[in-house]
Amino acid sequence: MRRNHWFVAASLLGIASIQASGQDQPRDPGTARTESDAERLLREEVVRATLREGLDTFRYDTFGDEAFWGDQLRLHEAIAGARLGGVGKGLSPNDALGLGLKIDVAALPPRVVDALLAGTVDLDDPAVTLALLRLDAVIGVTGFFGEGRDRRSGRGIHPVDPTAPLQAVGIQCALCHSTVDDSFSPGIGNRRDGWANRDLDIGVIIAHAANLQPVAELLGVSEDTVRTVVLAWGPGKFDAELFLDGKGFRDDGKTAATLIPPVFGLAGVNLSTWTGWGSIPYWNAFVANLEMHGKGSFFDPRLDDAVKFPIAAKNGFGHVTSDVDLISAKLPALHAYQLSLPAPTPPPGSFDVEAADRGDVLFSGKARCARCHTEGTFSEPGWNMHAGSEIGIDDFQALRSPDGRYRTAPLNGLWTHTTGGFFHDGRFATLDDVVAHYDTFFVLGLTEPEKGDLVEYLNSLPRDEKER
Ligand code: HEC
Ligand code: HEC
Repeated sequence: MRRNHWFVAASLLGIASIQASGQDQPRDPGTARTESDAERLLREEVVRATLREGLDTFRYDTFGDEAFWGDQLRLHEAIAGARLGGVGKGLSPNDALGLGLKIDVAALPPRVVDALLAGTVDLDDPAVTLALLRLDAVIGVTGFFGEGRDRRSGRGIHPVDPTAPLQAVGIQCALCHSTVDDSFSPGIGNRRDGWANRDLDIGVIIAHAANLQPVAELLGVSEDTVRTVVLAWGPGKFDAELFLDGKGFRDDGKTAATLIPPVFGLAGVNLSTWTGWGSIPYWNAFVANLEMHGKGSFFDPRLDDAVKFPIAAKNGFGHVTSDVDLISAKLPALHAYQLSLPAPTPPPGSFDVEAADRGDVLFSGKARCARCHTEGTFSEPGWNMHAGSEIGIDDFQALRSPDGRYRTAPLNGLWTHTTGGFFHDGRFATLDDVVAHYDTFFVLGLTEPEKGDLVEYLNSLPRDEKER
């Protein structure tokens, strides 16, 4: 429906601008020039409208997943707290910021900004969190108050009645894949879509849900075990494979969760996710259906493998259908929006340009990085997958995916996600550690200054050609 709207709007705009410029009567019917202008205008409008729709979905759409996070897990009760009709002490804005949730300053009306500046807002009061939810200011979380649900679109509509209780919460892509620029104060600022939220302690948030029985039943364990598993994740991590194979921990006893990756700079990258599950639209559908628990359709017979994916196979996760589909029609625009997010260039002065230039030469020369991280996307064009043994790490996480391999991580924008470490599980705390690992494993014989240059090169990606 919405897309038809856009199309009509786009056509009207396209035609309107041609008439405005008086070009509807081509002076020379022999040239196709005016017609292609009209087509170009139309295409530009369609692109703009599509990106707008994708942005909207990425930021605000719950796909109806409040039926899971709200109605089933009753996460909203823990947010509201006993005093406001929920359970426990509630989630104050300071608690929320402490758990890595971010506040969108652009969603705050001037009077709220003034009150925050004047220090007259009690950031220790869960009632203020509810007020922020009413303003759609908590990034990636929608509060549903009273009867305020639009069941067709998967959006919250906030009733005027300020006493309407919080009755559910839903989550969005932006919860894990957006941060803010901290322009107001730490955790409060303008949105940065596509950046990995490495502060977000999603495990602690899930552990606070009033009812973890649905997850416990799915995994065939106790609620206490579910809490132990999710509390072990730590900031910036989530386990997208837990609901498929039920593995909470690795053989070495560490959490099986992986770091949240950025979702910018993915145009041209073939397979997505750490372990190359599929294309971007594949994974978007996977996440919206199987992780967020939105209402949609999903097909992947690879999940019928009961040895690799016992939970998914038992529950038919490769064959999901839903009476109302709030996901599938939104995938094209969501995909387009993600492709439109470039990896941000590092701030000027944040790296040593000369060292980075020397590192550039090493990257494709002595250090032999470019044979996998091909310049451009910094992943391989084609089948960008490698066994753990090819890069000197274990196969645990790779074997939790269909291909049993790791995807060559795209390297643009590394500077935006230095918190939480590098590689899928953050095993290398710094880029120096990454380079030292490769130096040993590939027996590269890099000198200490060369290692430093390589790190500066990694810090400089994507290189802004103008600054060279
Ligand atoms: C609860 C946190 C969370 C939410 C919500 C979430 N993601 Fe993710 N996302 C992750 C994690 C963790 C991974 C890595 C998964 C893996 O490799 O196994 C990931 C991976 C991805 C990737 C692959 C990135 C790459 O480097 O190839 C894309 C694309 C993506 N997510 C898009 C989305 C979209 C679109 C949504 C909303 C429909 C969404 N995600 C919601 C946590 C989240
Ligand atoms: C054989 C192919 C291959 C070669 C050669 C290679 N890499 Fe990688 N690289 C990978 C794969 C695969 C991953 C993903 C590892 C994971 O998911 O844990 C990766 C991950 C990384 C990461 C972590 C990215 C992140 O988001 O955490 C960095 C940084 C990196 N490589 C830099 C380099 C440098 C520098 C070199 C040269 C010294 C190099 N790589 C050589 C395949 C390769």
